[in-house]
Amino acid sequence: MDDREHPGGLALAESERRLKLTIDTMPAMAWSATPDGQLDFLNQHFLDFVGMSAEALLGLGFHSILHPDDRPFLLAVWQEIMDTVQPRPVEGRLRRADGEYRWCTLRQNPLLDEQGRVIKWFGVVLEIEDRKRAEDELSKARSALLASERNIRLIVDSLPVLAWVARPDGGAEFVNERWAQYAGVDATHILDWGFLDFYHPDDIPNMVAVWTQALESRDELELKGRIRRYDGEYRWFYFSGRKITDANGVIRWVGANVDIEDLQRAEASLRQSQNELARVARRTTLGELAVSIAHEINQPLMAIVTNAGTCMRWLDEAQFDAERARQAAQRVVRDGHRAGEIVAGIRALASKAPARMAPTELHEAFRDVLLMLDGEFRRRQIEVRQSWADRSLVVQGDRTQLQQVLLNLVMNSMEAMLETEQPPRRLTLSSEVIEGGFVRVSVGDNGPGLDEGTLAHLFDAFFSTKAGGMGMGLTICRSIVDAHGGTITAANRSPRGSVFSFTVPQAGGVIG
Ligand SMILES: Nc1ncnc2c1ncn2[C@@H]1O[C@H](COP(=O)(O)OP(=O)(O)OP(=O)(O)O)[C@@H](O)[C@H]1O
Ligand SMILES: [Mg+2]
Repeated sequence: MDDREHPGGLALAESERRLKLTIDTMPAMAWSATPDGQLDFLNQHFLDFVGMSAEALLGLGFHSILHPDDRPFLLAVWQEIMDTVQPRPVEGRLRRADGEYRWCTLRQNPLLDEQGRVIKWFGVVLEIEDRKRAEDELSKARSALLASERNIRLIVDSLPVLAWVARPDGGAEFVNERWAQYAGVDATHILDWGFLDFYHPDDIPNMVAVWTQALESRDELELKGRIRRYDGEYRWFYFSGRKITDANGVIRWVGANVDIEDLQRAEASLRQSQNELARVARRTTLGELAVSIAHEINQPLMAIVTNAGTCMRWLDEAQFDAERARQAAQRVVRDGHRAGEIVAGIRALASKAPARMAPTELHEAFRDVLLMLDGEFRRRQIEVRQSWADRSLVVQGDRTQLQQVLLNLVMNSMEAMLETEQPPRRLTLSSEVIEGGFVRVSVGDNGPGLDEGTLAHLFDAFFSTKAGGMGMGLTICRSIVDAHGGTITAANRSPRGSVFSFTVPQAGGVIG
């Protein structure tokens, strides 16, 4: 606040005294200086602040209270102001009575005569230490924030995933450095919907559909798809994202895409070796059954030979009887089919064909297995009780694999019952439709049942209590049932024996 004297208006001692009183009382440090920059007045407030006598400060004495670091700058600006007569505020540190330097703003104004020459300079000094400190703190806080932002950015960029942030409209507004490096482009190419350029063309329709659906009606995203790497190779990724609302109420999606290519490959080769193992196990089982199977095929073959002979006899001119010959020929055809079916069943079971899920009639598939085992049942004196659901059950599954599950369970039951040596050995087979669109198949026996130790490890690979057992039968059963989306369980039944049950999903309902 400048205090201007009216030029030549202060003649009376009284008014001068009053003016001095005013100047000393006002809550600011005030001063005046000659046109050449020598201090010729300081008010009481100023003297109190500096804690020095007026004499020590007048003239050029005030230079001593300027902070040594600021002094050259302050004096240069002061000189410039005087030369140009262009007043302006300047900031610098002044020494307080206690020796501490405080930030202040210095303002000045010239008093001019009629020709525009400077008669005197008047000024005030305002302490701004507190404001300055607040400013410093703010800037420190700001740089701390920047540093922590840089840190977070560094972390996000180095995460071993393709991290992203997207707007509610589905466009990406951020992708981490790793994403850009993976794709081999600048991050800006991936932003908005740019990421589509890097997705596998075959995956895009599904990926976009899932993403759009998540945006519209969900809080989470889960998705699998292939992303093209900088070298042109497409790799499988698992996308997971989540909708968040930040502190300002802004909705965003954040997510990470994890490279699962290697995992996927490992899984595929695991499946492959499991299939191999299953095939070996099937062959072994079939090998064990060879005698029975041969016997089983032999029966229709013998019948064919007999009937063919009969047929020829009735065709003989001496006792020609066309009707009887036709009947015998029909029996030949029937038995031929029977033998053919057994052989086809064996061939299917031994085949290496990969799993193929399709609607499969369960009873018909099982019938082939039982046909093949018929001889074995008779040889081992095993009574088979079947209680199939009284309609045909169409399940979604791989025919051969489901046959194998039944074969393994039946083989186990037979082997278990042979241990006890006491006929009647009773095998029970049943199927029923259960809740949730599943079919349950059960294989029971009256063997020794399962003790606790066996129950705990039944489905473990290579767990076997048999001398020649591989311990893979049930492991294979479980992996097949799992792959079908069903479950397999084992339990004891009273008074003795065990029952194994597995479920498979029905294919689009029941036929017949
Ligand atoms: N019906 C059953 N009654 C009693 N124990 C059983 C029955 N089924 C399986 N087990 C027990 O579970 C074990 C594991 O069966 P799994 O079929 O996996 O192997 P395995 O029959 O021993 O050998 P393989 O690989 O030749 O089938 C068997 O060794 C046996 O101890
Ligand atoms: Mg077995």
